[in-house]
Amino acid sequence: MKINVIGVPLNLGCDRVGVERAPNHLRERGLMQIIRNNGHRAFDLGNLYVPPVSEADKFTRGKGLKYLDAIVEVNNNLAELVYDTLRGSAFPLVIGGDHSLGLGSASGVGKCFDDFGIIWLDAHGDINTSETSPSGNIHGMPLSALMGMGSEELVNIYSPGNKVNPQNVFLVGTRSLDEGESDLIRREQLSVYTMETIRLKGVGFVAEDIKRKLKERKIRNIHFSIDVDSIDPRFAPGTGTRVSEGLMPDEFKSFVDQMLSTNLVKSLDLVELNPDLDVNEQTSSLCLQIIDYITSRL
Ligand code: ARG
Ligand code: MN
Ligand code: MN
Ligand code: MN
Repeated sequence: MKINVIGVPLNLGCDRVGVERAPNHLRERGLMQIIRNNGHRAFDLGNLYVPPVSEADKFTRGKGLKYLDAIVEVNNNLAELVYDTLRGSAFPLVIGGDHSLGLGSASGVGKCFDDFGIIWLDAHGDINTSETSPSGNIHGMPLSALMGMGSEELVNIYSPGNKVNPQNVFLVGTRSLDEGESDLIRREQLSVYTMETIRLKGVGFVAEDIKRKLKERKIRNIHFSIDVDSIDPRFAPGTGTRVSEGLMPDEFKSFVDQMLSTNLVKSLDLVELNPDLDVNEQTSSLCLQIIDYITSRL
């Protein structure tokens, strides 16, 4: 398969340095060769341009939306690149950077396929709005904006209005939700598979349940957005918002495997690796293993 690797050296959504180095760090450690060794034609499209900002730009659009303008610009460009990649029958592999990039990648997917679903594998919900966010960090808001909720600048990225039906969104590995996020889940009756559910019923049950719903809802295309903080911090310490009690690497792989085996996954993000916070390259090594594992199944 043709795979386009898109680096997004964005840290404005988490307001913390380090994550922006992840795409180059993984390249230096052999990212492209790993993909090619799995028999793919892999193209490195390089890193997206992130406009320079100063501390003074942080709150120009209000307290609740740090660095909004720059984040909107990067995501518009990312959406177009993901869309072009899909139109060229290639698979977009988006390497972050912080999770605010999920806005752009999923928006690009949405322009290509109108019946798509999103699987959001993450310790967090990332469904805050500027009103409910405790931090003002936009990496905690992309999924709500994709569903049409929150500030209009985020909702209207790439094309006006919501990109995905809340019915077609699946949160997995969730274990840290803010109050407003829990309210939104109840209001929209989102499909959420928390770590508690996973501990109770197992990752296999969760995967089967999602597959059943995908069929029921006739979803033919999936955008798979993977936050490395879904994995337990004992195995993935190199990330900015660690939450304990996460997925074991084997559970993570087994879930990823089940989703890829549907053959519906058309694009994928891997986000929130922060090499500055890593311990002995543990998390970046795990990310490379994950990419090896994923591309061996594409
Ligand atoms: N819920 C918190 C917030 O909104 C943390 C979000 C973490 N998101 C992430 N993509 N790591 O600030
Ligand atoms: Mn490096
Ligand atoms: Mn996230
Ligand atoms: Mn997260």
